Amino acid sequence: MSMLSHPIHDFHYKQTDLYCEGVRISSIVKKVGTPLYIYSHNTLVEHYLKIVEAFKAVDPIICFAMKANSNLAVLKALVNNGAGFDIVSGGELQKARMVKADMSRVVYASVGKTDQEIMDAIKAGILLFNVESQPELKNIDRIAGKMKKNVQVALRINPDIDSPTHDKINTGSLKKKFGIDLATARSIFLNQKSYKRLHINGIHIHIGSQITKGEPFVTAIKKTLSFIDALEASGVKVEYFDIGGGLGIFYKDENPQTAHEYASKVLPLIKGRKFRLIMEPGRFIVGNAGVFVTKKLYTKDNGVKKFMIVDAGMNDLVRPSMYDAYHEIIPLKASAAKKITCDVVGPICESGDVFAHDRDVADIQDGEYLALLSTGAYGYAMSSNYNVRGRSAEVMVKGNKWAVVQDREVFKDLIRGSHIPEFVT
Ligand code: LLP
Repeated sequence: MSMLSHPIHDFHYKQTDLYCEGVRISSIVKKVGTPLYIYSHNTLVEHYLKIVEAFKAVDPIICFAMKANSNLAVLKALVNNGAGFDIVSGGELQKARMVKADMSRVVYASVGKTDQEIMDAIKAGILLFNVESQPELKNIDRIAGKMKKNVQVALRINPDIDSPTHDKINTGSLKKKFGIDLATARSIFLNQKSYKRLHINGIHIHIGSQITKGEPFVTAIKKTLSFIDALEASGVKVEYFDIGGGLGIFYKDENPQTAHEYASKVLPLIKGRKFRLIMEPGRFIVGNAGVFVTKKLYTKDNGVKKFMIVDAGMNDLVRPSMYDAYHEIIPLKASAAKKITCDVVGPICESGDVFAHDRDVADIQDGEYLALLSTGAYGYAMSSNYNVRGRSAEVMVKGNKWAVVQDREVFKDLIRGSHIPEFVT
């Protein structure tokens, strides 16, 4: 029996129980409790390999955008299969080192990098910095000079196109803080001798996230290629073109492009070009590889609406509150139980603490469980301790094996480093 409209085969019903690969999810929940993120090793690796395979003609450097999911087991599984990383902080750099990433496959973006972060990344020997402003360029040059190191840099340009996605994850227009406008970028390339320690030889774009069709990518890449042509005509050598991430995935009724469809649009555009292609997919690799399990506490009916109250909140999974994101919600135990139209809500003191509005969900008993699908990307990674709630645990499943890959936070974790000074006692 399958009630899944979801095309992710590693999460499926066997008789009435939801499984991740070969493991019954309720058997994990019994031991680990909820709220709980569960990742399928197979889905994770399979999605990474889909991109490798689709782009193999050009052998790109595939840098998994660690911000989507920085669980160490997830990172290790990807490194084991040859992935590099797109990192955005000193913390992410340290995680890349912990899983022994090949530093020649690590790129470092972010609109603001501290001196310490820049120093650590230079020391670690990353492939290049994706730089987003002139002051940042100057600072990296100054630090590299002090360290007597030469550093490769790609300029993140802002192609000034609007991509059809949620405003909060749309990055490619000049109304947003990201990247450098084309005129400034061109003058930086042409005057790069003024940066003694920098080799500015790459171009980076990232136009937004959850983009399900090829057109916006094609528009941005074409615009960037004309920019590259003009640079090369002026004698600049562009050795890397980092086309960012942003590939959309299935959540509800999207029909997102596959890796092959994406490649079939991108590859012809860059045919015959000498630069090395870099990609930074995050969501595409890990989004469908995770589910988030929560326990139903009880239902309340205020005469106008019904609310199904669960033990997880917006601190555990913020995407619905923050981006009006849709995650399919299914019971761990499929039964003939009828559906109930309700808001699925958490316990947090915010009206926005809602996982689903007016949704038909299985009318399960109190104490039974629901899974929110496609929560592998920007799920746990964006969770917080709001309302003094410990962050959930994470589990990885591979075949018939499973393991806790992140312990649930306990109260002790939440007060670590907190102090009440004498003057308030
Ligand atoms: N590269 C850069 C420079 C980025 O800023 C991002 C994501 C990526 C790559 C990866 O994008 P992806 O392939 O995952 O779309 N929290 C939001 C998404 C924020 C994306 C931030 N940047 C969400 O939950 O939808």
